[in-house]
Formats: sequence, structure tokens, C-alpha cells
Amino acid sequence: MTDVADAMRAMDLRGQTHKYSKIYDRVPIEKVLRTPSETAVGSTVIVGGWVKTGREAEKGALLFLALNDGSGPGNLQVIVREDVYALGDLKTTGTSVVVEGELRAPPESAKGQAIEMHATKILMCGKCDGAVYPISKKKQTLEFLREKIHLRPRTNTIASVARVRSALAYATHTFFNQNGFLYVHTPCITQSDCEGAGEMFQVTTLLSEAEKVESAQPAVKPEELDAKRAEVSECGSGIKAMKESGAESKDVKKAVKKLDNLKQELLEMERAARKIGGIQRAEDGTIDYSDDFFAGKSYLTVSGQLQVETYACALSNVYTFGPTFRAENSNTTRHLAEFWMIEPELAFADLNDDMQCAEDYVKFCCNYLLENCYGDLEFFAKMYDSTCIDRVKAIASTPFGRVSYTEAIELLEKAVADGKKFAYPVSWGIDLATEHERWLAEEHFKKPVIVYNYPKDIKAFYMRLNEDNKTVAAMDVLVPKVGELIGGSQREERLDVLERRMAECDLVPEDYSWYLDLRRFGTVTHSGFGLGFERLILLCTGMENIRDVIPYPRWPGNCIS
Ligand code: 4AD
Ligand code: MG
Repeated sequence: MTDVADAMRAMDLRGQTHKYSKIYDRVPIEKVLRTPSETAVGSTVIVGGWVKTGREAEKGALLFLALNDGSGPGNLQVIVREDVYALGDLKTTGTSVVVEGELRAPPESAKGQAIEMHATKILMCGKCDGAVYPISKKKQTLEFLREKIHLRPRTNTIASVARVRSALAYATHTFFNQNGFLYVHTPCITQSDCEGAGEMFQVTTLLSEAEKVESAQPAVKPEELDAKRAEVSECGSGIKAMKESGAESKDVKKAVKKLDNLKQELLEMERAARKIGGIQRAEDGTIDYSDDFFAGKSYLTVSGQLQVETYACALSNVYTFGPTFRAENSNTTRHLAEFWMIEPELAFADLNDDMQCAEDYVKFCCNYLLENCYGDLEFFAKMYDSTCIDRVKAIASTPFGRVSYTEAIELLEKAVADGKKFAYPVSWGIDLATEHERWLAEEHFKKPVIVYNYPKDIKAFYMRLNEDNKTVAAMDVLVPKVGELIGGSQREERLDVLERRMAECDLVPEDYSWYLDLRRFGTVTHSGFGLGFERLILLCTGMENIRDVIPYPRWPGNCIS
């Protein structure tokens, strides 16, 4: 009877082996730790992972390994006796092993763990030389880890961030899927500037062409050009003389044909002569992009919005979620040159619908983390920000504040009058600085707040003009810790007003004619927003620097790996 019960218990955990780790029949460590100990105790299972710490005991007869495989924040304590494996090779941080062992209840004296493994077999996968391994036991600074970017996922912090990031991406797709939004893939390369802030990275193959040594030589020498010009002029004079002397028309025609050919050759030579340092110039001296890969000036996208609007104006509710790029030279803890953005676009929806969607989405993400990543949140609360779990809970359950831009400025002005010091002065018309945004969210509302109806002069051309002619139907979601998390708006659906706004913003309507077509053919009230994915992770984890919440951060001067 006991044997059968034991076998059944073992089955319980064996059923948890990773479907795609049949080579070892490995059970993820998180599954082992989550199995109630009355079920787990007595089972023999196989785990694999990297040694976090190795501690010898009983004068070197025994080794306590803390093993982690990334499936969760917890380590499995593995006890290895020297007759099972040579302990010296095993104990170094970073060593990778597969272990078979029996799960047992730890002694009363072992605090904080419900289960431990007594190893019966060890397979050494990869030794790790502690003398040169950069991510050794002692705590490393986050700055240091940014230089060891390829090894930092081995640390508890970056592993927890990775799990939260993955969970939030899953939550995002789940939320939009459940609410009837289609996922649309917008392009990374574009010829349209969405935000008009002059922050685009150019995409070109002209420079690599120009870099070739032979390109540095002028394709046509000035004396060759002069010679061709002289030839054209001589041919022209010849034709004139022929006409004056009454030459036969077939001969004149022949000479004119020759002149046309010469002129064409001259044009081509002149163009070639304008290839300076291997880069083709137009007659006015500007770079001629007709030779470039896309035959026009092209960029990495700053936002998928304009393109996703075209799908919203056909499929109603859509969203895009992908990388976006901004060449702004801001070395702050809130800016990256490459970041991920979630951009829903809602047709038949106004600014109020947009704000409600943004609020529901952020709340959904917070609830998802509370339900699926609690262990990681506890880690962040312990190591980085003791208020993190309370904040995530509060955001999930409390309605966001809502205030117009004009009212927000009044609140800030009152704070200044009452003695609050800001680095940047406050007055109607300013673009709110992070310090203003954080004051509103952290100190005044003490929760996320949506500021709406911003002055048109500080916002993009596509936002819908309000009746006051001064403000646009824009909204920003400001949150504690971060400041601006979301920027969005109702879109200008009136062709004439949009054209006027574009002219005011010095945009050439022809460049956006495809975008204007949406207003020409079956226009519709529509709205959308963009959420900075890394800022959402900062909000939920309490991590301070955006460079630590994306696997490979890019900022001015840094593009490691
Ligand atoms: O406010 P932004 O510039 O809005 C747009 O791009 C709109 N086209 C979105 C839309 O309506 N579909 O950017 C949206 C969000 C910001 O609120 C911020 O969270 C984040 O993107 N963001 C950045 N995150 C990291 N690094 C940067 N350099 C960022 N710039 C903006
Ligand atoms: Mg913005």
C-alpha cells in the first residue's frame, strides 16, 4: 500500500516534467517548489539549473547547492554527498548541472524552505571557473551588469525582470484579444514621421556604399566635364553654321541627333560629378536619395500609429505591439533609443472611450501580475521598492484620477504658490516636465491620473482640435514613480481641419496623402494611445532605471551586443 502511494506521489511530479526537455525528463524547479510538500516528499525527480551558491558542510563531506533554472525566483536546495559527485567541481557559482534526487522535508531547523533535494545522480553540464566568472556570488551593481549584458540574465534581478516582462506581454495580448482587438504588425521602417519631433533614426545603405575606397574618388574629373561641355558647344555651333550655309535637312537632322546624345551624356557626367565622397548630390546640393535602398529618405519608426490607423479604419479595433526607435539625446532613467510600445486604435470611439480603454488595460496588467508573478513582485518589494506590491494592488483596484490640462496647471500653480519648488516654471502652455507629472500622480492624486485636453501647440498634428481652437483631444496617463506612461488622443477625422493643422506644423500634405485618404474615404471618429512597455515594467517592479528592464538597452553611446 505504501509503495503504491509513493509511486503515485512520484507520478504527480513526474507528470510535471517539461514537455520539451525529454532528453532529461526534467521538472522545472518552480513546479517542485510549488508542489505541496505532502505530495512532493518522497518523490524522485530530475531538475537542471545553474548553481547560485555552493556551501560545503560536515568538513567537506556534504555540499548544499542553491540551484535555479529561471522558472521562478526560488532556488531549490540540493544536498550532495561526496560519494555522489566530486564536490569541489560542483560548488562554483555558475556551474550548470542536471540532478536526480529524492525530495525530502528539510529538518525543523532549516528556515524558509518547504522541500529540499538529496542528490542521487549528478550530470555535470558545464563547469564555471569562479576566478574569472564575472557574475560571481557577491552582489553586483546594476551599472556593472549593463556591461556584462550577456550574463546578466543569470542574476536574480534580471531574471525576475525577464519573467515580469514576459508576463506583461502575455497580459497585453490577452487583454486586447479578450476585448475584440486584432493584432496588426506595423512596419519598423517607414518614410513618415508620426510625432514630428525630429527624432528619427535614418535607414540608409548610402553610407556603406560611400565607405568603399573607390567611391571616394570623383567619378568624373573637372577637365573631363569641361571637355564634354566644349564638345556640346562645338556641336551646337556646327549645327548653326550648317543651317546658315543651307545644308541639306537630313544632314542637319543627323547633327541635331548627335547633339541630343551629347547633351544627354553631359547631363549624366554632371550628375556623376555631383557624387561627392561617394554620395550623390542633387543640383541644389542636397543628398539625392533616389539612389538609396528605398529610393527615398527612410527611417526607423517612432510609432506604428499612422499605419495602425489604416487598419482601425477597416477592422474597427486593432493594436500593434512592437519596437519603436527614437534618436533623442536624452540620457535619463526613463528614455531608451529603442523601446517597445503597445498602440491600440479604436474606431467609432472618442477620447472618453480611449481613456477608459487605457485605464482598463493598465489595471488588467496589474491584476495579471498579482495573480501570476507574485513571487517576483515579492522579490522586487524586498530588494528594490518596498511599496511595489501595494502600488500594483492599488492601481489594480482604484479608479484613475481625471483632470483637464488647464486644471492640472492650476493645481501646479497653486502648489508653487504654497511653496513647492520645481526646476521648470509652470504656466499654461508648457509641456509638463517629469517633475510636474510625478507631483500630480504621486503627491496630489496619489494614484494614476489622466490629464486631457492639452494645448495644441505642444502636441502632434493628428490630434483632434477642440472647439476652443486652443486645445486638442489628447490624453496622457501619468503614474507614480514614472510620470508619463501613456500618450494618446482622439484623431482628427475632418480632412480640412487636419490639412490646416499639418500646414501649421510645417508638414507637406503630399507626404501624408495615404493618411489623408482615411479622411477622404469613409472617415470615422477614432482614437488610440501608446503605452511605453518598459515604463509599465518600471511602474510594476519599482526598478529605477529603464536600462535594466529591457534585455538589450540602447541609449546614446551604447549599443552593446
Ligand atoms: O507619447 P508618445 O510619443 O505617443 C506616441 O508615440 C503616439 N503615436 C501613441 C499613439 O497614440 N498611438 O509615446 C507613447 C509612450 C509614452 O507615453 C512613453 O511611455 C513611451 O511611449 N515613450 C518612451 N519610452 C521609453 N523611451 C523613450 N524614449 C520613450 N518615448 C516615449
Ligand atoms: Mg507623449
